[in-house]
Amino acid sequence: MKDTQDTFVQKTNAQVADDKFYWEVLEGLTKKQKSLPSKYFYDAKGDRLFQQIMECPEYYLTRCELEIFTDRTADLAAAIGFNHEPFDIIELGAGDGTKTIYLLEYLANHHTDFRYLPVDISANILTELELLVHARLPKVNIQMLAGEYLDMISEARMLSDRRKVILFLGGNIGNLTPNEAGDFYREIGRQLQPGDSMVTGFDLMKNPHIVKAAYDDARGITKAFNLNLLHRINKELGADFDVNLFEHYCSYNPENGACKSYLVSTVQQKVNLQGTVVHFEEGETILMEISQKYSPESIIALAASGGFEVVASLKDKKGWFTDSVWRLAEQ
Ligand SMILES: C[S@@+](CC[C@H](N)C(=O)[O-])C[C@H]1O[C@@H](n2cnc3c(N)ncnc32)[C@H](O)[C@@H]1O
Repeated sequence: MKDTQDTFVQKTNAQVADDKFYWEVLEGLTKKQKSLPSKYFYDAKGDRLFQQIMECPEYYLTRCELEIFTDRTADLAAAIGFNHEPFDIIELGAGDGTKTIYLLEYLANHHTDFRYLPVDISANILTELELLVHARLPKVNIQMLAGEYLDMISEARMLSDRRKVILFLGGNIGNLTPNEAGDFYREIGRQLQPGDSMVTGFDLMKNPHIVKAAYDDARGITKAFNLNLLHRINKELGADFDVNLFEHYCSYNPENGACKSYLVSTVQQKVNLQGTVVHFEEGETILMEISQKYSPESIIALAASGGFEVVASLKDKKGWFTDSVWRLAEQ
């Protein structure tokens, strides 16, 4: 996996991705507060576990956003300006498209000229999504973009100069810290043209018991989802994590909206990652994922940081989740 400096290796895209995976895992495990990038949760097993999480009674996010996509479809379509000129819908971290399919269906039924470009780091889930779209909406023009968010926006811009509508659903934005989210929208704002739209699903601050339970389900699926990343590192990077020696822990800070998932080492132990020995104290944690919750005011501030104007804020009936629709303002 590691190249010597004097060896030139012609790498395939898959090898480059493997190297990136290795270096990011190594970087995370050698920091003072150990961490692992949550984007690597999603191999085929991780995709399946996430689908099970979405079905958990505690995981309200999917149900809330599904309600918006089924009950407020016309408002959503109007807010993205669906009856104007042809456009491209780029969905970042599209997953299995559970909710998006309702918007696509609405647009297709209204004879809208659009193309759907789902982006996901998991090629596996994109294949599932393509099957769903072909089965339910055979006339929709779909082109999958396997890769990371910002790289794939650049790729999509090279495909056409049509107006862009970016979807970023399910609270994926919560996996960035608020500072990272500001940088993310600044970069997206730089890549888009005035008049382009951005739709983000934000999970709103609420009763801390409700938030915490969503990331700590009684059946232990979230635990399995987190531990699966250690299995993946063993399988793909040849590490020797004893997965039974880690347990799952989740915290929510209602003051700043940060919900964090950790794995906790239950004993003092060593893990070997391709020759690098990583030491764990008993009780030491690996930060696995942040799921940031937002206030309505902080969402408006985030929109402004990227140069966007808020066009609509659609909420579920309980007011737990919002899809915030923005338009890039003239600079
Ligand atoms: C929590 S799931 C949500 C899926 C979907 N947005 C929804 O609302 O159901 C996150 C999805 O984003 C993808 N993902 C995570 N980080 C990514 C990244 N940096 N670039 C591209 N896709 C990413 C994952 O593979 C996964 O399918």
